[in-house]
Amino acid sequence: MTAGALFAAEAFAKVRLPPAEAEPLPHWAYTSTAWYEREIERIFRTSWNYLGHVSQLPNRCDYFTSEIAGIALLVVHGQDGVIRAFYNSCRHRGSKLLSDRGNAKLIRCPYHAWAYDSAGALVATPLVEEEMRDKRSGLSLHKLRVEIVDGFIFVAFAENLPTAAATLGSLPKEWSAYDPADLVCTRKRSWEVKANWKLWYENYNDSLHVAFVHPGSLAKQKVTGRQRASHLESDGSYLAHFTYHSGSRGLLEEDQGMALPRFANLSGRYAEGTYYPCLLPATLFGFTVDCVWVFELYPKGPDRTTLVAASLFSKAQLARADFADRADHYYRRVDTIVPEDNAAVERQQEGLCLPVGVSGKFTHMETLCHAFDNWVLDRMVDG
Ligand code: FES
Ligand SMILES: [Fe+2]
Repeated sequence: MTAGALFAAEAFAKVRLPPAEAEPLPHWAYTSTAWYEREIERIFRTSWNYLGHVSQLPNRCDYFTSEIAGIALLVVHGQDGVIRAFYNSCRHRGSKLLSDRGNAKLIRCPYHAWAYDSAGALVATPLVEEEMRDKRSGLSLHKLRVEIVDGFIFVAFAENLPTAAATLGSLPKEWSAYDPADLVCTRKRSWEVKANWKLWYENYNDSLHVAFVHPGSLAKQKVTGRQRASHLESDGSYLAHFTYHSGSRGLLEEDQGMALPRFANLSGRYAEGTYYPCLLPATLFGFTVDCVWVFELYPKGPDRTTLVAASLFSKAQLARADFADRADHYYRRVDTIVPEDNAAVERQQEGLCLPVGVSGKFTHMETLCHAFDNWVLDRMVDG
């Protein structure tokens, strides 16, 4: 296929049909490097991207690193209490500054030992102090736009976006009963998935697969009802579905006896099931009656994604003597279900190397996948 044909609007006419008649995105949207590179430019570098939760940086000078759209980032809780994000790149000759997470009063470059304070100012340039004294002030770390909404940290590469809070629309009102600012991220685990990031996003919004991909785990818990709302039906940049069930969706059926006390302020449907808002482009939340999880998708190439699963609990739950024992069962649920989904999307990726002209089909249980594909198309294809 020529590069022009990859993005020609007429190639997507059937994706644009109403959900009952529509086809999924064509296979090249999941396999082509040119398509992927345009996604980085048009989606990730022009959206608010989720970075994590403030509880990952409880103390002054705590930091963690991240990589979004191929750009290495450094997130720092400053001496002054402000959380900032910087390019994780030295202003001398570009070395990556820090890895993983930790606490550092000075951010010292491993290459020639230039050092920055927690607000990003260059404060030391060993062996060349005299020469650099007057130049330091113009060599602070490059700072990105950061916004914290109810404890969740977002970063933007583009200056001209509306605020993150405006982008979320009414979602903060929806999640307020879970008191997200009071949550604590107690565990993060990551997996390298050999599949396109969109397959994971779609899989999370596809209720059709649950019986077949999770027969011995998730499917053992009976769901008594479902609700779905696309980004066109909500007023924010997210899709959401809701499932009604008894017990906790954060535990496998056989572990329900290990449930932690429920969140105190849930009412209406939130007391009867699990709310799954999925931020656009790549962050998937699960708010259930007694825990919260976040699946963060980090694209690494057309057929590679780093999946990070974060588990969050309330401070009241953490204060219990039996918290660690009980939380292990919530982690077990994540560690059981994620590999099942990973295997499903990896098989799907392998099956998506097709000749042009072969297409798929959506059903009524995949209306949110259809909405997501159209959101992607809106950004990727002109006209
Ligand atoms: S690249 Fe960082 S000090 Fe030289
Ligand atoms: Fe699944």
